[in-house]
Amino acid sequence: MQKIQVIGIVGSGQMGRGIAQVAAQSGFDVVLYDAFSSSLDFGLTFIKTQLAKGAEKGKWTSDEAAKSLSRIKTSLELADLKHCDLVVEAATERKELKFEIFRKLDEVVKETAILASNTSSISITEIAAVTKRPQLVAGMHFMNPVPVMKLVEGIRGLETSDETFDTVAAAAEKMGKVFVRAKDYPGFAVNRILMPMINEAVYALFEGVAEVKDIDSAMKLGTNQPMGPLELADFIGLDTCLAIMNVLHEGLGDTKYRPCPLLKQYVAAGRFGRKNGKGFYTYDK
Ligand code: CAA
Repeated sequence: MQKIQVIGIVGSGQMGRGIAQVAAQSGFDVVLYDAFSSSLDFGLTFIKTQLAKGAEKGKWTSDEAAKSLSRIKTSLELADLKHCDLVVEAATERKELKFEIFRKLDEVVKETAILASNTSSISITEIAAVTKRPQLVAGMHFMNPVPVMKLVEGIRGLETSDETFDTVAAAAEKMGKVFVRAKDYPGFAVNRILMPMINEAVYALFEGVAEVKDIDSAMKLGTNQPMGPLELADFIGLDTCLAIMNVLHEGLGDTKYRPCPLLKQYVAAGRFGRKNGKGFYTYDK
């Protein structure tokens, strides 16, 4: 197995900053990259606040928070990831963007570095194929909010080597996560199961089976889920849910994965959920 000490993160949005925080708290040196200085500044400020809040709550000491923060370097240059042993890409979920990032990473990082993607639905095999090191590419799918959720779903592309997969599993475990191994099929394991449930909840609303709050209460109180499926859909983003349903529908070709017309309509109307204040519920911005 490869030794991982320096982890690069591409993208300082919700997922990237969460991964950076957890990696730094687990003793890794982190280089957090983003193409935009405003996102990078926001990401770092968010991590600082989270570390301070945790110290106030007694989850860790102020000294530990300061040490974790000191392990994070930020950069606006992708070339600054050149010394990383592992890079986790957590950019926007757009295929062409991810391909471009992986092509560039393949040129700038050292030959032995592992490149991982936090994609929730794009094929790892396809991402790996744009690089000259497909055996060193794997999926590391973290869940939101990263510091709270225990899972990392590991996705093995067609060419991912045993050593690469074992190395990313060990890195995830060092971050205190449980690493579950999945194959590279549409939706992997989590979204193959989660998204049809969310889509079915939207169908139940669409067909008038029950109201929004009642659907959520039924699933929260009846099946012990922390959030009801519609609240969770808002939390994930309705545009993201629709994009993943489309991947399942196209990739598996079964009509049972067709996205609910109401989900499509909400997205068309710009109701993306929590991120822009309106989805199945309304939120303060
Ligand atoms: N970052 C860090 N910590 C956070 C956080 C965040 N964004 N949001 C909440 N927390 C922490 C809080 O600090 C709190 O910690 P302590 O108990 O140690 O004080 C704890 O989480 C609970 O928070 P709250 O009391 O504010 O709220 P809650 O009890 O309602 O929990 C929740 C919030 C953790 C989000 C919970 O509702 C939950 O687990 N929901 C389900 C989340 C889920 O399913 N995520 C996966 C989505 S799917 C995905 O990510 C992948 C995909 O591809 C779509």
